Amino acid sequence: MGRTTVLVTGGAGFIGSNFVRFLRTHRPDYRVVVLDKLTYAGRRENLADIPEGEYFRFVRGDIADRPLVDALFAEERPDFVVNFAAETHVDRSILEAGEFIRTDIWGTWVLLEVVRHRGTGRFLQVSTDEVYGEILEGSASEGDPLAPRSPYAASKAGGDLMALAYHETFGVPVLITRGANTFGPYQYPEKFIPLFITNAIDNEPLPLYGDGRQVRDWVYVLDHCAAIDLVLHEGKVGQVYNVGAGNERQNIEVARLILRLLGKPESLIRPVADRPAHDRRYSLDTSRLRALGWAPRYRFEEALAETVRWYRTNEGWWRPIKQGEFAEFYRRNYGHRLG
Ligand code: NAD
Ligand code: TYD
Repeated sequence: MGRTTVLVTGGAGFIGSNFVRFLRTHRPDYRVVVLDKLTYAGRRENLADIPEGEYFRFVRGDIADRPLVDALFAEERPDFVVNFAAETHVDRSILEAGEFIRTDIWGTWVLLEVVRHRGTGRFLQVSTDEVYGEILEGSASEGDPLAPRSPYAASKAGGDLMALAYHETFGVPVLITRGANTFGPYQYPEKFIPLFITNAIDNEPLPLYGDGRQVRDWVYVLDHCAAIDLVLHEGKVGQVYNVGAGNERQNIEVARLILRLLGKPESLIRPVADRPAHDRRYSLDTSRLRALGWAPRYRFEEALAETVRWYRTNEGWWRPIKQGEFAEFYRRNYGHRLG
């Protein structure tokens, strides 16, 4: 028997790179092959500490490029596929949704087609709780109807539904995880927590959308990775698993915590014009995942403190990012809001 090979698409992004490192630690005998397009959000240096060779290979390429994906499957014959590759930022999907449709729907379909013809042991589609839409009361369960409200969430829902259809129609061994809002090291500073940390370090305003009372159900990235690993190995094919740690917090509370951890004044919080169709609350019922044996290992406040420490000690990672393409996005998304 050869070595178990896992194809990790989008492995140079935030959760993907944490997951690759998780596999190196917890499944050291696996061969991990990363396929990543290196968009603005993907960085080869997120995996710089992992040497290439028998246990790790990095391939730059697009999941929507069928000849490339097909050739990679023929060569590597992966036992497992974990699809993290996606356009992921709601605000960018509001500015321009084309790439979201191309990668999150079409790209997922290309992967499913290649898996259908070439075969693999298990295909895990990494999805999001945003496909359920806003949850004003109670918590979303896996069987609930999908009601996405942003172009990002609609694209992810398209990918989920195509994956489930390929399971039903062609017997592709699909599993889906729907993760809650995730935070931790290596998150691109366009997202709420790393944006607020890095702005606060620089004494820049923290642009809080609307009244700041929106609720997100936060999960630390290492807990999210452990859940994906568990579902990949122990989940039931054809099933969906919600991934969340039950840390529901209002955005304004999180902003205040970040400022306290950095010793910065609350006057840095700047209420700005709300995001259109801003989902008021997310909340997940995670009993199915917990029945598999998963429980979060990190407390929210401690994990947030650890995340703040990481951004403080890794300015060399995020400062160049914030000066590049990000600066243009920041002007487009926040220029009129901040005045
Ligand atoms: P990210 O934006 O940090 O990384 C995405 C990665 O995918 C990047 O490395 C990028 O280069 C790569 N990529 C994009 N388009 C590609 C393409 N066409 N082909 C190959 N690679 C491509 O995203 P993330 O936050 O790490 O999210 C990873 C996955 O988890 C996504 O599918 C996302 O929908 C899902 N998710 C994220 C969160 C969260 O809070 N961050 C929560 C739940 C689910
Ligand atoms: P975000 O990190 O974009 O994740 P998502 O929209 O996918 O949940 O945002 C998290 C929350 O923070 C969300 O309610 C929007 C809010 N937010 C702000 O108030 N200001 C910001 O500048 C950003 C990026 C987000």
